[in-house]
Amino acid sequence: MPRIWCILLLGGWLAVSQSASGPGAVLRMDIGTIDRAVSTALNKSNVLQKLVEEATKKKPNTKPIKGISRLKVIDLRPPVISLTLSPGVGLFMAVLVQMTITGRSFIGGNMEIKVAANLTASARLAQDTQGCPWFSTESCHIALLSAKTNLPSSMLPQVMSKFLDSTLQKVLPGMLCPAVDAVLNLMNAKFTTMTSVIPLGTAGTLRYALLNPPVTSETCIQLDLRTILHEKEGEEVDLPADQPSLTSLPPKREAATQLILSAGFLSAELSVMQASFSLNISNNMILGLPPLVTTTLGALIPELSMVLPPSHPLVIEMREANPPLVTIAPDKSIVHLFSTAEFRVSSPDSDLGSLFVLDVHSDLRAQFAVVEERLQLSLALDSLSQVALASSSIGTFDELPLKGVLADIIHVAYVPSINRALRGGVPLPPLLGTPYRQVEVGRLQNGLVLDVPVSEI
Ligand SMILES: *[C@@H]1O[C@H](CO)[C@@H](O)[C@H](O)[C@H]1NC(C)=O
Ligand SMILES: *[C@@H]1O[C@H](CO)[C@@H](O)[C@H](O)[C@H]1NC(C)=O
Ligand SMILES: *[C@@H]1O[C@H](CO)[C@@H](O)[C@H](O)[C@H]1NC(C)=O
Repeated sequence: MPRIWCILLLGGWLAVSQSASGPGAVLRMDIGTIDRAVSTALNKSNVLQKLVEEATKKKPNTKPIKGISRLKVIDLRPPVISLTLSPGVGLFMAVLVQMTITGRSFIGGNMEIKVAANLTASARLAQDTQGCPWFSTESCHIALLSAKTNLPSSMLPQVMSKFLDSTLQKVLPGMLCPAVDAVLNLMNAKFTTMTSVIPLGTAGTLRYALLNPPVTSETCIQLDLRTILHEKEGEEVDLPADQPSLTSLPPKREAATQLILSAGFLSAELSVMQASFSLNISNNMILGLPPLVTTTLGALIPELSMVLPPSHPLVIEMREANPPLVTIAPDKSIVHLFSTAEFRVSSPDSDLGSLFVLDVHSDLRAQFAVVEERLQLSLALDSLSQVALASSSIGTFDELPLKGVLADIIHVAYVPSINRALRGGVPLPPLLGTPYRQVEVGRLQNGLVLDVPVSEI
């Protein structure tokens, strides 16, 4: 009995620690995205053409097709590919290959054979040691659908026709199956691109890598992704441990690849960027607001007018003291900033220097959009949830009267400056050649959902 309890407890503990390090992003790849990648790989690289040329070249140690010499492929039609997901395995492909072969026949004279064959192959999707998805060929079969010659049937007796069929049946796999490997290699190269390191301006780097082995279902290939963020100096930034990970995923829309980004990942992303949020706000930066001088401070807080000389310009030094936190719920998303605002006298003929430091927590409403393969954030001040005096060289005072002016200053100067710092956006994982176009951005508890329609090629 005690042992059972122990196992139960251990099981529960494992489940908890697993969820704490949940995926930063989940990518559910629609078959349309894969179809597009495979078709362009087959098409652009001319894989089939090259292989057929290779296979029909005269080589010293290979036997020519028995009974046919000077073999040449004169016409290779664009392959017709149909792909299906095979749950638990990966990909199943059927490729209709049609070509015309010429050669000198065994009974003399030139012959032309129109061949149609059905290539079927199955590819297993796994994870390599670098956390990259990886296709490998599991099987490849060729079924000869038809082989028609230009010779009249009287000249090609039944037995010969059978002979031709069986010869082609033997020759075609060696000629066509390497194309499957070649196409999968091109796909794997695209997966490598998907999981390679992306610079975040000068702030650091981001890499999407598999957290778990890929899961293939009837409707999509699901990739649970680790979002590996590094600061410029190489320090890895963990996702906030106290932030809940993605709990339940929404249903996947048809004909769309879905990318779900966790709020924890966006928090970590902003914490890599936070150094660039620092801003010194001086008097001439805030048009339309009361001048940023000691007199203004004194008018708000009478105690300060006793100790401060009038009309000295001030500088407010805004800095992030703790990592920002992004919270997302179905109805709104908020970026919480934990800043310090240091008020300094900036005139050279004053030895006052730093006056005091305020702890400022601001809540900013976040709007998201996808522009050029990046998630763009745009922030607007919602409220200051906290303003508190952290330290002061001119004695304590009630900081409350400063709140309104500070909110105006943050709204007019600090938030626009942060928006400029965020202009680079969050790079999204490349989708094997499917562009992030007409993306719909939605919210769920603790995450953003990006639906990327799989458009026609
Ligand atoms: C392949 O390329 C040909 C010609 O370059 C084009 O007509 C065809 O639509 C392409 N097919 C795919 C699936 O990209
Ligand atoms: C090729 O083979 C697959 C699998 O057996 C089958 O579903 C498909 O209809 C075949 N295609 C042709 C053109 O015969
Ligand atoms: C703000 O001013 C201080 C003191 O002059 C300086 O050390 C700091 O680098 C400045 N910060 C920015 C973002 O310009």
